[in-house]
Amino acid sequence: MQTVLVTGGAGYIGSHACKALRGAGFQPVTFDNLSTGWADAVKFGPFVRGDLMDRDALDATFADHRPIAVMHFAAFSQVGEAMREPGKYWRNNVTGSLNLIEAAVAHGCLDIVFSSTCATYGDQDGVMLDEDCSQQPLNAYGASKRAIEDMLTDFGASNGLKSVIFRYFNVAGADPEAEIGEFHRPETHLVPLILDAIDGKREALTVFGDDYDTPDGTCIRDYVHVMDLVDGHVRGLNWLQRGRGSRVFNLGTGRGFSVRAVIDAGRAVTNREVPWKPGPRRPGDATALASGSTRAADELGWRPERSTLEAMITDAWRWHQNGHYDR
Ligand SMILES: NC(=O)c1ccc[n+]([C@@H]2O[C@H](COP(=O)([O-])OP(=O)(O)OC[C@H]3O[C@@H](n4cnc5c(N)ncnc54)[C@H](O)[C@@H]3O)[C@@H](O)[C@H]2O)c1
Repeated sequence: MQTVLVTGGAGYIGSHACKALRGAGFQPVTFDNLSTGWADAVKFGPFVRGDLMDRDALDATFADHRPIAVMHFAAFSQVGEAMREPGKYWRNNVTGSLNLIEAAVAHGCLDIVFSSTCATYGDQDGVMLDEDCSQQPLNAYGASKRAIEDMLTDFGASNGLKSVIFRYFNVAGADPEAEIGEFHRPETHLVPLILDAIDGKREALTVFGDDYDTPDGTCIRDYVHVMDLVDGHVRGLNWLQRGRGSRVFNLGTGRGFSVRAVIDAGRAVTNREVPWKPGPRRPGDATALASGSTRAADELGWRPERSTLEAMITDAWRWHQNGHYDR
């Protein structure tokens, strides 16, 4: 079985990627320091507890497991925190990625699939964002991801590294079998916040800004089901392994939903009221973000068929009710 090194494999998206890799016949090896992840989310292959800041640990992992490729999810990713503590983002995300890339190159592992983000585009109102749009990040999180993209390009030119860079839009939902799911501490993502409010784990959901220039005043985002997202990653890995080169792909559906629309869908799926209250805008939040690209569909055959609000919330609700990590 061919091995793929999955940094951040104990986190939300990385753990789902491990399940998808396993299903596609690969052996996922998780490398994670558990700073925001969960040991019991690592269910589909070996676990190396290690930090991207530790180059020796990375070298030992490449030597021990000899991966054919890397899927790189490990990062800090909270916009609010990045606004307050930019150094934390530059250090962990950028320096950590530099260590990883240098170790991969040193061990001849030259294919990397990287989690970037639509936050690298910034706020370009009214524009359906495609991969050729300019990147004008509004915060250190987006800026750190753009810097890593540049790093991958430079190492591609000098060391033969090949990369598939995925710029995700908003990821939601959970494994439909509820073996794994979404749990961040603190939670900042809309769907789990809605579900927490529904079952009283928090008093009420705060909607940050209801005076944006959108039909109902709340921000608009493009939501992708995590299972569709990780299916895109396996396709990206196979594309790299066929020696196609390097490429950037948006992973979004092209449909945007407002925060109010997601709250309404939460009520419809669970048949329960969603307590919420308006709050001030958050610095660093864009008004509307949606993917304007069909590149992943055209070139990878990617079809985000599970990415309806109903399916994302149904699967997240199942996990919310039945699944858990030992916290
Ligand atoms: N969730 C989203 O909607 C979304 C959207 C766009 C991009 N992304 C990107 O996807 C990736 C995964 O996001 P997620 O929601 O699964 O986050 P997550 O916090 O659940 O997972 C990140 C994992 O990386 C690990 N990690 C962080 N720094 C590390 C380090 N220095 N060494 C080793 N492990 C480290 C954490 O412990 C955690 O398990 C991130 O890179 C994020 O920027 C996520």
